[in-house]
Amino acid sequence: MSTVPLLEVSGLCVDYGLGEGAVHAVVDANLVLRKGEVLGLAGESGSGKSTLAYAVTRLLRPPGVITAGQVRFRGSVDLLAAGEHELRGLRWNSIAVVLQSSMNALNPVLRIGTQIADVLRTHRPGMDRGARVARAGELLEMVGIPADRLRGYPHELSGGMRQRVMIATALALDPELVILDEPTTALDVVTQREILEELMALRDRLSFAVLFISHDLSLLVEIADSIAVMYAGRLVERAPASAAYHAPAHPYSLGLLGSFSPLHGPRKRMEGIPGSPPDLRSAPAGCAFHPRCALAFDRCGTDPPPPLLTLNAAAADGAGRREVACWLHDGTHLVPAELAGRLEGTS
Ligand SMILES: Nc1ncnc2c1ncn2[C@@H]1O[C@H](COP(=O)(O)OP(=O)(O)O)[C@@H](O)[C@H]1O
Ligand SMILES: [Mg+2]
Repeated sequence: MSTVPLLEVSGLCVDYGLGEGAVHAVVDANLVLRKGEVLGLAGESGSGKSTLAYAVTRLLRPPGVITAGQVRFRGSVDLLAAGEHELRGLRWNSIAVVLQSSMNALNPVLRIGTQIADVLRTHRPGMDRGARVARAGELLEMVGIPADRLRGYPHELSGGMRQRVMIATALALDPELVILDEPTTALDVVTQREILEELMALRDRLSFAVLFISHDLSLLVEIADSIAVMYAGRLVERAPASAAYHAPAHPYSLGLLGSFSPLHGPRKRMEGIPGSPPDLRSAPAGCAFHPRCALAFDRCGTDPPPPLLTLNAAAADGAGRREVACWLHDGTHLVPAELAGRLEGTS
C-alpha cells in the first residue's frame, strides 16, 4: 500500500456568500483517497457533494468561497494554493472531472471527434492531427462506442452514449484521479449498470483512482472500496464499502441504505428517511440530522455532532478505519441494536 495518499482533503470548509447570510455548504471535510482506490461520496441532494468536488478541483465559482482547509495531491501539491498555471498542468493530465449533468454540456454544433480531439490538442501540443483522431477513436471504443461515431453530433447519441463520451474524454490523458459527479443519475437502470461495469473494468485496466459521487449509497457500495457519507455539509461516516453496507454506524447511513433498491439481488421494500434535508440557510441546532433521526436524544438537539469518532482503534493505518460523527458512538451510550448489533465482527 502506498503511504502518501493520492488526494488528501483536510478541514475543508466552503461557504456560499459571506458574513451572516453565508450558507455553510461544506464544513470541516476530511477525506483520503489512495492511489487506484475508488472512494464513494454519498448523501442526499443538497448535502454539499458537488460543492466539495468543485472546491477540491478549484472549479468553485462565486458566490462559493473556500474558507478553510487544505487539499493535497500526491502529498506535495497544495491544490488550494496552486496558481492557474499549475492547475492547468494538472487538470485533465492528472485530475479529470466529469461534472454533474455534463452530458448536456457537449457542444451541439461540434462533432464528437472534434470535442475529444480538442482536449488532446490543448494538452498534447506535440501530437499531430492523425494521432489525435486515432486516439479519439480508441477512447470511444474503450467506452463501448464504435469509432465511426467520431463524425457524429451529440444529438445523434443517446444520453448514455453522451455520458460515455464524457468519460472517454476524461480518460484521454491517462489521469491518476477521475472525479465523477452523479455520472449515471439521469440514466435508466440498465444503462447505468452497463456504464458502471465498463467504468470499473477500465479502472482495473488503467488503475486510476476514482472519487465517485452519488446520492445512491446502494450503488456506491457495489463499486467503491471506501465510502464517505455526507449530510448537510458534514461528513457523518467513513468506512470501507462492505462495512458501510453491512454495518452502517450512522443512523443517516442506515436510512440511506433503505432508500434505494440495490442494483443486484432481490428487491426489498424501501423505507426511505422521513422528512427532507434541511435548508442550509437555517440548519437545525445540534446535529443537523436530529429532526429526522428516530434514535436522537437530548444532546443531539443542542450540541453539534462530535468530529468523526474512530470505532475500530486497531485500524490505525486508515485503510480499514471506521469513523462516525454521531453522539450515539461516544462511548457513553448503549448503541441501539440497529447500529450496534451489526458492528460485531466487521472491524
Ligand atoms: N451557487 C450557489 N449559491 C448559493 N448556494 C448554493 C449554490 N450552489 C449550491 N448551493 C447550496 O449549497 C448546498 C450544497 O449544494 P451541492 O453541493 O450542489 O449539493 P449536492 O451536490 O450534494 O446535491 C445546497 O444547500 C445548495 O443550496
Ligand atoms: Mg450535486
